[in-house]
Amino acid sequence: MITCSAPGKIYLFGEHAVVYGENAICCAVDIRTRVTVEPDDEVTIVSVLGTTGLDHDIHPYVSAVVERMSELASFEGIRITIRSDLPVGSGLGSSAAVTVATIKALDVMYNCGLDNAAIASMGHEIEMCVQGAASPTDTYVCTMGGVVRIPQRRSLESLDCGIVIGNTHTFSSTRELVEHVADLRQRYPDVISPILSSIGNLSNSGEDLVNSRSYSDIGGLMNINQGLLDAIGVGNAKLSSLIHAASAAGAMGAKITGAGGGGCMVALVDQSCVKDVADAILAAGGDPIITDATELGLRVDSST
Ligand code: MEV
Repeated sequence: MITCSAPGKIYLFGEHAVVYGENAICCAVDIRTRVTVEPDDEVTIVSVLGTTGLDHDIHPYVSAVVERMSELASFEGIRITIRSDLPVGSGLGSSAAVTVATIKALDVMYNCGLDNAAIASMGHEIEMCVQGAASPTDTYVCTMGGVVRIPQRRSLESLDCGIVIGNTHTFSSTRELVEHVADLRQRYPDVISPILSSIGNLSNSGEDLVNSRSYSDIGGLMNINQGLLDAIGVGNAKLSSLIHAASAAGAMGAKITGAGGGGCMVALVDQSCVKDVADAILAAGGDPIITDATELGLRVDSST
């Protein structure tokens, strides 16, 4: 029996723009998805979504991983159990985390010899197949951990300030939101392309601030990024209300993280007011998650 886990991630800057080759800065967070695999006679996938066999509707990522890994290793069946602290479909990289953790668990069980770079790359291919569009960002950061500048894949200093996430509990489709931005960009290229470039430029300015741990300035740039995300139509009233509540409670910066349209927002917070910000998010109707940055990417938790 093998158990592997991978962290979720937040975007400090750059979601959506990264799809067009712009810069982004992402940070792995200490909320993990654990995947246990054990040999069995048939394929069984167990999660909070239900117990299924290969099922591309209920367990699309894990089913795709099983099919792909069965090209590298010969196995009749496998029992896969997923336990995740990451809310599903909420912009925290839950699909990337479950995908790379499942690849790693099968890789270890059947000695396929995949290194982390190969796992991240296979994870990206699988996200592309399932979602239709995906940048390699989520699978890379969930595999490697830490704070990473994309697309350069440059590791930055870790964040040691507070991170408070607010879950709106409204599901959003990454595919639909990416299509929405693509459509806007096609209709109004002279308007939308500069906005996407400006989002990329925030990452350029943000890199030095991350490395010098200038959290208040990072927060200021996150607020600008939020305005630009609203401008391309990936915000909504619930996200805005959690973002404003976090800012009013003292967050240094607050924005959508991930595709938007629902899902989660993230606030960068001085350690002294983490609780105030979490309480404000709760009072505004969101579900607060207090977490930290983590350097710990994909790993084998146990092997028996
Ligand atoms: C989704 O977590 C982030 C997007 O930029 C899409 C992607 O990068 O694949 C919206």
